[in-house]
This record gives sequence, structure tokens and C-alpha cells, in this order.
Amino acid sequence: MARVHVIANQKGGVGKTTLAVNLAAVTTDVLSGDPEHSPVLVVSTDPQASTVWWADRVGDGLPFDFVQADQSPQDLARLRSIKQYQHVFVDTPGSLENGHILHAVLEAADDVIVPMPPEPLAFDPTSRTIEHVIKPRGLSYKVVVNAWEPRDGRSDLEQTRAFIEARRWPQAKVVVRRYKLQTRASADGLVVTQYPRNRVAMEAREDFFRLALELGFGGTAVAAAPVKTGVGRS
Ligand SMILES: Nc1ncnc2c1ncn2[C@@H]1O[C@H](COP(=O)(O)OP(=O)(O)O)[C@@H](O)[C@H]1O
Ligand SMILES: [Mg+2]
Repeated sequence: MARVHVIANQKGGVGKTTLAVNLAAVTTDVLSGDPEHSPVLVVSTDPQASTVWWADRVGDGLPFDFVQADQSPQDLARLRSIKQYQHVFVDTPGSLENGHILHAVLEAADDVIVPMPPEPLAFDPTSRTIEHVIKPRGLSYKVVVNAWEPRDGRSDLEQTRAFIEARRWPQAKVVVRRYKLQTRASADGLVVTQYPRNRVAMEAREDFFRLALELGFGGTAVAAAPVKTGVGRS
């Protein structure tokens, strides 16, 4: 049965699409064995369809399967019954007008990822999404600080982390840094596993691999053999 991860924040431009496609890319990289069957599906439910545009740009070049859902409640409810994937990442619209889409999609969610840039302007809209939309549904969720610019220093990051902590929202330890390359890449329709192999690209890629590792997307851990304890062992 697929695990459905909904990427949500009713503020636009926080990194929903970026997280959806790049988490999908690194998860595919780790889980794929059979080139005929992708273990990962990305679903765009955004009528403005930046992910679709992304898919158009690269055509078959995306490493994971991709669909644009029509926005009917029936179509969205079907997300729940998807079986042939291990992970489904659902990109959602970034505006309040499309609240009905977000609500329908959350019906099918196993968990929610809430990207949030480290800037005070994002605090209120992120609060509204979490307190009024996610929490009342009892969904498990995690806030991911995205697009932190290390050159700007740690104060915005720390202020954001403190804000999240004060509200007792679960937050990812991994912070996704801001890379100019990332902004370029979305214009070029590239995902992080397709970046050129230079140092900055490797750092960007590392952020997404680390995040996917923290979120547990890499597959089922092999149980370690029980360690025998007792006397007489050297
Ligand atoms: N970590 C990041 N580093 C650099 N640019 C980013 C990062 N995350 C998002 N962006 C850029 O910010 C813009 C908005 O991101 P996007 O993922 O489209 O947000 P949303 O889907 O929430 O509206 C895009 O141009 C995207 O490339
Ligand atoms: Mg988007």
C-alpha cells in the first residue's frame, strides 16, 4: 500500500513543489530497482500547475511517475486506493482560494510535510495551515524549514526554529538550504538527482537525501540480529 505524503502550506512560494519533486527524486534514487516500475508517484493537484509545467519541460526525463489530478473530489479521493507505489508525494495549491482541494487531498493523507521558509512573513500563514487545517484532522505532520540562506547568518533560522518549538509543532532536524542552483533547476525542469556533479549541487542533493533519510523514506530497515549478552564473551 502506498504511503501518501501531502506537501502543504497555504502560503505560496514556500517550497511545496520543490520539496515534492526533490523528495520524490531522492526516494526514487534509493528505492528503484525495476526501471519499468517507478516506486514513487508525484501527484500535482495545483490548478496553477507549476509541477505540470515542470513535467512538460522534462517530458519523460523525470525519474518518477507523475500525474496531474483533475480537481474533482472523486479523483482526489482515489489517491487513497493507489497500490502500485511505495510513496506518493502530493503537491498542493499555494493559495487559500483552493482550500477545497487541500481539504479533499488531506482525506487521503498518511502524513503531511509543511515547508516553511525562515522568514517572519511565513509565520502566520503557516500557523493557519497547521492549526486550522492539519491539526483538526488529527494528521501526523512535520514542518521542514526550507530555503535557508547560510550567508545571511543563523538569526532568522533560529528565530524560525524557536517559533516552531514554541508552538510544539514537530519539525525536521534537517534544514534545506537555499541554492541559486535550485531556482535555476526548476526553470530547467531538473530535479536534484539530475544536477551537475559539482560541489554546490552535491550539497543541495545532500539536503534532500538527509531529509528523506530523516523522514524514513528509504525503505524498511533490516532488523539487526539480537545481540547476545551475558558473561563469558570476549
Ligand atoms: N531550497 C531552495 N533553494 C532555492 N530556491 C528555492 C528553494 N526552495 C524553493 N525555491 C524556489 O522558490 C520558488 C518557490 O518555490 P516552490 O517550490 O514553487 O513553492 P510553492 O510550490 O510552495 O509555491 C521557486 O522559484 C523555487 O525554485
Ligand atoms: Mg507549487
